Parts: sequence; C-alpha cells; structure tokens
Amino acid sequence: MERAQPAERPAANPAEAWRTEHAYFRRLLRLLQREVDVFHTGEKPNYELMLDIISYLHEFSDRVHHPREDVAFARLAQRCPELELELARLRQEHGVIARAGETLRDLLSGVLGDALVKRAEVEVAAAMYLVYYGNHIAKEDEDIVGRAAQVLDAADWEAVRAAVPAQPDPLSGQGSGERYRALRHHIALES
Ligand SMILES: [Fe+2]
Ligand SMILES: [Fe+2]
Repeated sequence: MERAQPAERPAANPAEAWRTEHAYFRRLLRLLQREVDVFHTGEKPNYELMLDIISYLHEFSDRVHHPREDVAFARLAQRCPELELELARLRQEHGVIARAGETLRDLLSGVLGDALVKRAEVEVAAAMYLVYYGNHIAKEDEDIVGRAAQVLDAADWEAVRAAVPAQPDPLSGQGSGERYRALRHHIALES
C-alpha cells in the first residue's frame, strides 16, 4: 500500500497540502481511537503504539504543522477580521493540544515503565485528546483552509513554509532510524 505522507507544502497548492496533512493526522487519530476502544472490551491496548502516535504528533504537528498554521492564521486575520476570534481560538488550541499530548505521553510512558498508572486515567486522557484534536482539525478544514486558499498570496505561503525549516518526516525513518518502525507497520495494515 502507498503510505500517505505529510508532504512539504508545495507552493503550487499549499491549501491542498494543508488538507493532506490533516487527513494524515486523522488517520493516526483513528489508529489511536482503535486502541482506546480496546479499553472498553477489557483487553490490554497496545500502549507502545499509542505512545508512538502521540510522540509522532508531537514531533510533526506540535513542532511543524502548528507553528506554520500560527503564521497562516496571523496573515489571514489581517485580511479577514471577521475570522479573528476563531483564529485566535484555534491558535490557543494548539497550546492545549500540546499540553494534552504531553499529559497522555507521560501517562503512557509511566505504564510502559511499570509505574502504577490507572487504566481509567489513560483512557480519559486519550479520549479527551481524540475529541479535542478531531474537532480542531474539522474546524480548520471547514472554516479556515478554503478561506486561506482564497486570500493568501504566494508571499504569505512562503512565510508560512519558512516558519519552520523543512525537515524529514520522522515517520519515513530518515533521521530517526527505526524509531517509528512499528507505527509504520500499523499504518500499512490499516488500509
Ligand atoms: Fe491547528
Ligand atoms: Fe491543522
């Protein structure tokens, strides 16, 4: 199967590339949801996989996708004042998502390190992360990306791209060795 990759946003169609990254994140969140569902069956979820997904989203989304969006939001707010409040809210959510991910990452690391972590704590933290993240992406796709495609120009998109220097996708294995081998395997099985 051909793996969908979070691509560097090509200048030709940056909004399309933006949606592609969202689609990719949704796919990872679906994998995480599947593990959360395992809680309800009373079985043991794949904690390593859950931790890999959260870590990957931290590496790519918190550090690359969201800082770039912050620049896009600032440029868009200048041109569309009616979106200012929503854009400010979405920008604030980037911080909330990062902190919620950190909490979940700590809990999962605790489980894997044999610390006494209650299942319910992991389940609640993961469920909150999923709902919050899913809604965030949906709002961006519905209200923001299309509008940005209409009003941002080439210089804006270049500023967005330049907000974070280009770097290899950590899921590709480049630069991070075998770190995400298991996650790559699960993504391949999913479709
Ligand atoms: Fe965002
Ligand atoms: Fe986004």
